[in-house]
Amino acid sequence: MRLLVCGGAGFIGSNFVRQRMARSEDEVVVLDKLTYAGRRETLRDVEADPRFSFIHGAIEDPAAVAAAIAGADAVVNFAAETHVDRSIAEPDAFVRTHALGTYVLLEAAREHGVRYLQVSTDEVYGSIAEGSFTETSPLDPSSPYSATKAGADLLVASYQRTFGLETVICRGSNNYGPYQYPEKLIPLIVLNALHGDRLPVYGDGRNVRNWLFVEDFASAIACVLERGVPGETYNVGGPDESDNITVVQRIVELCGVDSSLIEFVTDRPGHDRRYSLGSAKVQALGWRAETRFAQGIERTVDWYRDNSWWWEPIRSGSYREYYARQYGTRLAE
Ligand code: NAD
Ligand code: TYD
Repeated sequence: MRLLVCGGAGFIGSNFVRQRMARSEDEVVVLDKLTYAGRRETLRDVEADPRFSFIHGAIEDPAAVAAAIAGADAVVNFAAETHVDRSIAEPDAFVRTHALGTYVLLEAAREHGVRYLQVSTDEVYGSIAEGSFTETSPLDPSSPYSATKAGADLLVASYQRTFGLETVICRGSNNYGPYQYPEKLIPLIVLNALHGDRLPVYGDGRNVRNWLFVEDFASAIACVLERGVPGETYNVGGPDESDNITVVQRIVELCGVDSSLIEFVTDRPGHDRRYSLGSAKVQALGWRAETRFAQGIERTVDWYRDNSWWWEPIRSGSYREYYARQYGTRLAE
């Protein structure tokens, strides 16, 4: 197969590309806008493979998409703005990429008759106090991030129903692992701990997330790509749930720092209390998560400790301004 992977220079997309190229004969074309969250270096270990090519462009640009989709058998769309806090501060790019970008991609897939997989999130269902969401749970998103992701999912479903385009949607729970940009909880806490910086925990730290190791999400997406039924949605939940303070305390132990670095700070507006996804439908296709949180978090901390080449340019660049905006007042309170 020849795959067009949009957003393949980001966290999950790059892990998917790396795994797919190791496990199959597929050719991979990555189309990526290289926003603050996407970098060519993240793909440096597959760059030299003759089956790999890269196009710098945005999914909302019809010319870039037309060039990228030619000859593809399937599109896997990871391209997105992905951080809830940024969507609260500046929702503009979220609307553009998720609404307009998904539309442009779907139009091109329809024109070329190419199968389409949309990578989505458990956050489209909103928060759940008990039990787990299934694929038929109503969409009830809380943030501009999740609302625009939900809108993109609905547009994808409409192209299946209205135009007969073969589409599948894959909704993952919170991912963690190598190459995650340090605005998200786990890499932010790991890098702060490794630098002896304060560890900001929102609210009471009791919000619960359903943690999924990134390589398991990548293998679930490959499974749905190969065996998913067109028109269907598949939830992919991690094997473990944990509240944030427990995650942060475990990172503190693994990094060997003092827990007095932990600081409870002003909560995120509209903060979802708990996410939980049932995965029975994707498991019926033969997928299983291989990494429990206990092992995955150790691998993740080790990876950040051993790969400063990857995160040093981020920590010394525009991330500093972002960090000051997001945490300056919170940590000063
Ligand atoms: P990321 O922020 O690490 O990477 C996003 C990538 O998309 C970057 O390479 C960026 O340059 C690229 N991109 C952004 N806008 C683009 C545009 N308009 N055109 C082309 N490329 C663009 O994100 P991630 O964590 O790897 O998430 C990938 C996908 O998985 C997203 O759709 C996200 O909603 C979904 N998801 C993420 C998680 C998670 O925990 N991170 C969980 C479930 C689902
Ligand atoms: P995040 O990694 O932003 O993922 P999401 O909001 O998409 O689930 O946040 C995970 C959880 O950690 C969430 O409950 C918010 C919380 N959090 C903190 O407590 N401190 C932080 O600095 C960040 C970034 C997140």
